[in-house]
Amino acid sequence: MLAVAVLAAGKGTRMKSALPKVLQPLAGSTLVERVLASARQLKPERRLLIVGHQAERVEEQLGASGELEFVLQDPQNGTGHAVQQLLPVLENFDGELLVLNGDVPLLRPETVESLVQRHRSSNADVTLLTARLDDPTGYGRVFADENGRVSGIVEHRDCSEEQRSNNLTNAGIYCFNWGRLAAVLPQLSTDNDQGELYLTDTVGMLYDAVHFEVSDPAEVNGINNRKQLAQCEALLQERLRDHWMDQGVTFVDPCSCTLSEDCNFGRDVLIEPQTHLRGNCQIGDNCRLGPGSLIEDAKLGVSVEVVHSVVRGAVVGDAVSIGPFAHLRPAAEIGKGCRIGNFVEVKKSRLGDGSKVNHLSYIGDAQLGEQVNVGAGTITANYDGVRKHQTVVGDHSKTGANSVLVAPVTIGSKVTIGAGSTITKDVPDGALAIGRSKQMTKEGWADRSV
Ligand code: UD1
Ligand code: CA
Repeated sequence: MLAVAVLAAGKGTRMKSALPKVLQPLAGSTLVERVLASARQLKPERRLLIVGHQAERVEEQLGASGELEFVLQDPQNGTGHAVQQLLPVLENFDGELLVLNGDVPLLRPETVESLVQRHRSSNADVTLLTARLDDPTGYGRVFADENGRVSGIVEHRDCSEEQRSNNLTNAGIYCFNWGRLAAVLPQLSTDNDQGELYLTDTVGMLYDAVHFEVSDPAEVNGINNRKQLAQCEALLQERLRDHWMDQGVTFVDPCSCTLSEDCNFGRDVLIEPQTHLRGNCQIGDNCRLGPGSLIEDAKLGVSVEVVHSVVRGAVVGDAVSIGPFAHLRPAAEIGKGCRIGNFVEVKKSRLGDGSKVNHLSYIGDAQLGEQVNVGAGTITANYDGVRKHQTVVGDHSKTGANSVLVAPVTIGSKVTIGAGSTITKDVPDGALAIGRSKQMTKEGWADRSV
């Protein structure tokens, strides 16, 4: 039987943030969600999250799945105190307890799995994850013999000068035999520099403690401040880009682009500098994205081109060209071969195949057929101040420059709208509609006597 407990009650004082540390975002997810994900494949019998500082906010963010048991630690008197809160909760539990610090987000699932396997095969009281760091500042130092037996952990701030030269550090990830841990937990004391109950002290109290060193120390980076948060973000981004380059995506300037883990790319996608993909993005083969674009929760077909544009919550068909300086907003559905040009905004609208909105337009709450040509500066007036209304335009229609389509309005197919028209009434198929005041010309005006 396996229980996993994530320590997520701390305030994260060193972040200097209104947000609890474990809810800080990293590559589109939060620290604690990443930590939880690193243990998911173990399919533990119990999943416990120890919450304290802004507990309601953490529960609200993570409670939806119903898989987690939230355990309150109030006040937050250290990592040992946090695990003491499990004593009543796991009273009848018999098995291993995997403890994960909520601020160690780069941990690979394989590493967690190896730790548990190692623990099970050694039959120790505790197996803890360690790393040799070039700069161990801030981490607890692990004192172990050459056979991997651990005598104790001393926190950086409690170390002597000599102890600090030991660069074997505690990752904050432990697999305990729960029964043995439960026996020593009540004996913890606050006899340390912070006056807190340290989980690390249990390691020295247990008879049989061993450690397991990670091969890639970057995996156990703990996040205590914004600088470490930025370093982890950079590492994660590098992992993601490396992965996609292996899958056939080209980055012209990899370091200037960021991705989320929920992005999927086809082959021969070219990503130009300063292009960022967030949320869940599906990008088809041969797309060319950027430079300078933001794509979020969007689905792009094959051979789509996006230049200096923002595409959010949109579905885009094959061979569409977007930008420069276009803005596709949620529920924009763009058919195959469409063209969305400069300074065009499309929201909650469907454009049929081959339609073009090339310059200076707003298309909102509209249904455009196929091969529609929207003239420069055409606007759908979709909002009457209270409600939004629909505009419908049939196949092969064209609007002249600077047309205003006042919704609700339906324009048939093969319609021509004269430039500068304000269209307030429906237009039947094949008609020409002009809705503007007649031009008045006064000859000889310049030579008039005053
Ligand atoms: C801890 C370890 C240190 C290790 C480092 C690895 C202890 C005493 N020290 O130090 O040996 O090298 O992690 O990153 O454990 N938390 C609670 N309740 C509390 C205090 C903290 O739930 O009362 C949670 C925090 O939210 C955080 C985690 O425990 O997720 C670690 O706490 P933190 O204060 O960051 O410990 P470190 O000083 O980094
Ligand atoms: Ca920490």
